[in-house]
Amino acid sequence: MALLEVSGVTVRFGGITAVNDASLVAEPGSITGLIGPNGAGKTTLFNVITGLQAPTAGRVRFKGADITGATVDKRAKMGMGRTFQRLEAFGSLTVRENVQVARDIRSGARAWFRRGADKRVDELIDLVGLRKYAGQRADSVPTGVARLLELARALAIDPALMLLDEPSSGLDEAETDAFGSLLRDLAARGTSILMVEHDMDLVMGVCDYIHVLEFGQVIATGTPAEIRADRKVQAAYLGFADDPDVAPVPPAIAAEATAILGVPAAAETTLSMLAVEAERR
Ligand SMILES: Nc1ncnc2c1ncn2[C@@H]1O[C@H](COP(=O)(O)OP(=O)(O)O)[C@@H](O)[C@H]1O
Ligand SMILES: [Mg+2]
Repeated sequence: MALLEVSGVTVRFGGITAVNDASLVAEPGSITGLIGPNGAGKTTLFNVITGLQAPTAGRVRFKGADITGATVDKRAKMGMGRTFQRLEAFGSLTVRENVQVARDIRSGARAWFRRGADKRVDELIDLVGLRKYAGQRADSVPTGVARLLELARALAIDPALMLLDEPSSGLDEAETDAFGSLLRDLAARGTSILMVEHDMDLVMGVCDYIHVLEFGQVIATGTPAEIRADRKVQAAYLGFADDPDVAPVPPAIAAEATAILGVPAAAETTLSMLAVEAERR
């Protein structure tokens, strides 16, 4: 049984169909990536999974239970952890206190009356590699550290599934690499991960499975190797430039496409599009 199962989810905003009959799964102990061009519907689908957005149609199941209408809080209690794109730590508390507060909230109000050494807090701080920052105020640490703190706080509920929204934003290359290793570590310890992420080196490097969204639809599902080789994915990432003479590839998109395809995108654009066109005929 899949840990998370999204079936036939559609989200309409007025006349816009942001997500269109999308289905995907996340398996226990694995890392699943959700990628796609800007405006594809990734954030909207992510919000449906976390409970911030009600779908127009479709179901979400977690651990076999239908949670389509469940509150964010209920989902957390069932073992869904998440981080936020905006960093939300308490600035005046230390790194350690921030993790402690997340544990206390999980344990309920009674925890406040018997606050002692919580071994798990130190374990979490060690797990994400923040021991040397444990005593520092959260508002005095660099972005990379704040990201890890956010992860440690989300891990405080011992989630079965961790949902990450663009976790690498604000991280430099070395930090992103370390973050990728940490995610593999978490998955190996049994925490499944579903992440929306635009850093293709990270996605291709750590994911077991990837779902690709385009115009709200899941156009491909597979391993990183399968996704790289998928013609529809190539077209989705390169299709904006079907007239390369008048629409040069923006550097950011070229880099993303290059990372997915494993070849320089700008040089390959014309070739790939011709191949896709030929296949359609
Ligand atoms: N609250 C909203 N109201 C209206 N349109 C929205 C809303 N949120 C997203 N959209 C539209 O839905 C589409 C998908 O957006 P989004 O899920 O943010 O895509 P992505 O995260 O893949 O870039 C876009 O066309 C976007 O403009
Ligand atoms: Mg988005």
